[in-house]
Amino acid sequence: MLVSTDERVPIARLLTFLEQGERMAHDCAKAQSALVTDSGARGFLCSQARQEAAHAMVFQGAIAWLAPKNLGGSPFLPAMEEYQALLQDALIRKDLVETFLAEQVVLEGLGEAVLTRLEQGLMKRAAPFGRLRRVLLQQEEAHHRFGCRQLERAITRGKADVSSLQRRARPYLALTDAIILTLSDLLDTIHEDASAWAADVRTFLPKWLVTDELPGISGQTSVMRIESKPIAES
Ligand SMILES: [Fe+2]
Ligand SMILES: [Fe+2]
Repeated sequence: MLVSTDERVPIARLLTFLEQGERMAHDCAKAQSALVTDSGARGFLCSQARQEAAHAMVFQGAIAWLAPKNLGGSPFLPAMEEYQALLQDALIRKDLVETFLAEQVVLEGLGEAVLTRLEQGLMKRAAPFGRLRRVLLQQEEAHHRFGCRQLERAITRGKADVSSLQRRARPYLALTDAIILTLSDLLDTIHEDASAWAADVRTFLPKWLVTDELPGISGQTSVMRIESKPIAES
């Protein structure tokens, strides 16, 4: 994938959406850090917010390298706007469990799925910031694992249950599908199958969230799955 110079602009456009996602993740982690009562979780979320801001800068650099000329503004992505509105509503309600579900688990799952696919192409192009991108992916995995642990902890403490989390995940998952579908023309341009990308998002989610499999009591189910996922080399 991603070998023609004609693909530089579509890839740069895809990265602009990732950059927007980073900003959403930054704002969410910052707001979550003000809501949590546990000092360890607060420290993690403050660190995540700093990392998400840095990630946005990495994408800005990659976009400038891929498409030095002005991209002419990013197209409006209604599904992403709607996702942000749902997440913002959960933050206003101080529903931390839903925010962990929507941001660290589902949105970071989408980000990881897209990044993992894009990474191969960026490596082939000898894109700059290779080490930064590798660090970025490792940090995203840590954010995702943190979110999974928060949900599993909420379940074991009786603050949430699997079926309600599955139900609450549905609108967010429908919107990640809609985001990918909206990008299908761009994905076509770089010879990628939008439906495969949408399916990828599910593979980055804890199995218990999308199947009837029970979560591991110690939270090991999703942690082990994520940790066994290979990290792209560059
Ligand atoms: Fe990020
Ligand atoms: Fe993240």
